[in-house]
Amino acid sequence: MDIDLTAWLNLALRWLHLIAGISWIGASFYFVWLDNHLRLAKDPKPGVGGEVWSVHGGGFYHKQKYLVAPEHMPEELHWFKWEAYTTWLSGFALLILIYYFSADVFLIDRSKVILSEPQAVLLGLSVIAAGWLVYDGLCRSSIGQNVVLFGIIWFAVLTLGAFFLVHVFSDRGAFIHMGAIIGTVMVANVFFVIIPNQRKVVDTLAAGGQPDPALGQQAKQRSVHNNYMTLPVLFTMISLHYPMIVGNPHNWILLAAISAVGVCIRHFFNLRHTGQVRYEYVAASVVGFVAVMVYASAMQKIGAPVVAEEEATFATAQSIVIRHCANCHATVPTHPDFDVAPGGIALEEADAIRQYANQIYEQSVASDLMPLGNETGMTDQERALLGKWIETGAIIETTESTVSRAEGQFHD
Ligand code: HEC
Repeated sequence: MDIDLTAWLNLALRWLHLIAGISWIGASFYFVWLDNHLRLAKDPKPGVGGEVWSVHGGGFYHKQKYLVAPEHMPEELHWFKWEAYTTWLSGFALLILIYYFSADVFLIDRSKVILSEPQAVLLGLSVIAAGWLVYDGLCRSSIGQNVVLFGIIWFAVLTLGAFFLVHVFSDRGAFIHMGAIIGTVMVANVFFVIIPNQRKVVDTLAAGGQPDPALGQQAKQRSVHNNYMTLPVLFTMISLHYPMIVGNPHNWILLAAISAVGVCIRHFFNLRHTGQVRYEYVAASVVGFVAVMVYASAMQKIGAPVVAEEEATFATAQSIVIRHCANCHATVPTHPDFDVAPGGIALEEADAIRQYANQIYEQSVASDLMPLGNETGMTDQERALLGKWIETGAIIETTESTVSRAEGQFHD
């Protein structure tokens, strides 16, 4: 019996990460909703600033918000923090498991910067730490007092970070690190500011004192930021499935633009909760998304910059795929990092190469996401040839000189 521990650990961590992330973001969206829906309490108890009624799962809920604190601390108080911590811990473990243990294939792109594995890992950890230090510094500076100005500057810092990362790491590695930077900032906000400040307030109140209002303001500032960073960070996490963005030569601009769309959508909902239905934000989001789509398509590397002069027969295509893909994409891979074909895609047999022709095109002709790490040094000329074979119908010439055309639509 052979147990691929890495693969099972990957599954367990990813599942946990998703579950914890949903719980965290779900609770956080719910509290933003709750806060924005508070109405003046009809028959308020002392200290109650607002209330909201809702119905869910067969019962009615009556939530009340105490502006400072209730007269007596309840025996049981829920904090909502482990959702955030678990999300970060599982995400960080995944980052290490995939991108740091196999830095050579997932993180390093030798066509950009030749890094050793330790250098790449150190750089990755440094940018995550730097992200938090810069963010926290900005929050504490006078800029932090102005929400809009802060937003613009932090957005610019992140965009600059993305520009830097796509030039030193593989595209996937760069995108995942942008997600890690934003996600770390969000969790660090909970860990270093929101929860400790809340604890101080609770302790002061329990001791019969008057809490410092600055503690609440700081926590509120971080919580507002987290709210707007949610959709961009979720996008970075799914972005790896979209080669037309991650593998795009202008991927860092597309990441910034989509993040702006995410912020815009979040803003629409934040306003809507308070009763202001501002459809112009929906319109702006749709226009932004379409603009990203058009821009991405216009900038996509269609075919390699090199035009394939040679004839692109199946034999040529197959030899390229065998040389550059089949060390990993084989039933029994020869690459030391893989025990089974990644993604279940084995590219040895003619039929498989034709079946996956469109994906091969996306991953290694229209972008250079594959071969992962490009350890075999696939050239633009080879990409162009492979592209030409697919563009002309992914035809497999058989020995009886009959041709068989692939099912479905191929790039033309
Ligand atoms: C070093 C190993 C390695 C090499 C070499 C490699 N791949 Fe991959 N490939 C992977 C891994 C790992 C994944 C799964 C990535 C993920 O986690 O999404 C993958 C995924 C894919 C996918 C599926 C992508 C998706 O998101 O559905 C395609 C298509 C693909 N590779 C094509 C190729 C082609 C074409 C080549 C050669 C030009 C190639 N690969 C070379 C490791 C490799």
